[in-house]
Amino acid sequence: MDNVRLVEVGPRDGLQNEARPLSVEDRVRMIEGLIGAGLRTIEAGSFVSPKWVPQMAGSAEVLTALGRRAGISFPMLVPNLKGFEAAREVEAEEIAIFASASESFSRKNINCSIEESFERFGPVLEGARQAGMRVRGYVSCVLGCPYEGKVALSSVVSVARRLHDIGCYEISLGDTIGVGTPRAAAAMVRAVAEEVPIAAIALHEHNTYGQALANILACLEEGVTVFDSSVGGLGGCPYAKGATGNVATEELVFMLEGMGLRTGVDLSKLCRVAIETSAKLGHDPVSPISKILAATGDDQV
Ligand code: HMG
Ligand code: MG
Repeated sequence: MDNVRLVEVGPRDGLQNEARPLSVEDRVRMIEGLIGAGLRTIEAGSFVSPKWVPQMAGSAEVLTALGRRAGISFPMLVPNLKGFEAAREVEAEEIAIFASASESFSRKNINCSIEESFERFGPVLEGARQAGMRVRGYVSCVLGCPYEGKVALSSVVSVARRLHDIGCYEISLGDTIGVGTPRAAAAMVRAVAEEVPIAAIALHEHNTYGQALANILACLEEGVTVFDSSVGGLGGCPYAKGATGNVATEELVFMLEGMGLRTGVDLSKLCRVAIETSAKLGHDPVSPISKILAATGDDQV
């Protein structure tokens, strides 16, 4: 195995938790920069309630401005049928649905139980099948919950398997609050891989406790080859108390390329996007690599 696939979630997971919302134009510019840096799967926004997550208002306009690009997908996060209809209206080619392994997080995040969330997903999957859309699935709180603490592995496995069974082509396992450590992350992936093919498993790490790269390495050794990350290490979840950003894409690229794995991403161009986007958000880039570049004014990593 010498190729890995990165799913860039900065324009969604990254921006949804920022105090300063970015305009549609700035989000499109950010995504164009990410495409220019070589990323091929870029979550471009979400069709959730703008009362719950105002930062994602205008996601339809973002997708429309981007248009369709050969070889590039722009999954859009969708919580229910209303979100699906918004995605279909703008001819999204791919959506992502999200469930939780923790009951309390499910209620805080999408205002329903885990069981009710699957009732909502049924018609969404059916609509997606009819429209020929690909569907990715997330499981949140796979290594801990901000409200319940420990989360049963059996719940993580069951939610992942159900998402796969209803037709999600890939299941992204979300360490929403970044409390996982490498052995726990590897054990969690091993348990899920007993029910879901390893090729259909992705890891979605948040770097709250600085464990993201270590967890990714542990799961790479378990055979995972798809990793979610956010340019600049932006983000967090508005309904996960204390959740900081996803693992920074530039740190992930630096590690993977250093290990001889190909990501297809140009690190210097990527860092430029991190620096420019962070400046618009009114703060320094979170990741050390982009911080160094911003401080030295260098153009190359
Ligand atoms: P609700 O209040 O229970 O929904 O929210 P409702 O069906 O009762 O509707 C209430 C209002 O919302 C109505 O409008 C609906 O039309 C509207 P009103 O009559 O009051 O004007 N509404 C919508 N508007 C736009 N788009 C929609 C939609 N649905 C209803 N799709 C709901 C339920 C799911 C909508 C709400 O809880 C919500 O939007 N939650 C979003 C939460 C969110 O985006 N969280 C962050 C993403 S998840 C995450 O970050 C984790 C992840 O990264 C993985 C990880 O790290 O673990 C994926
Ligand atoms: Mg997340």
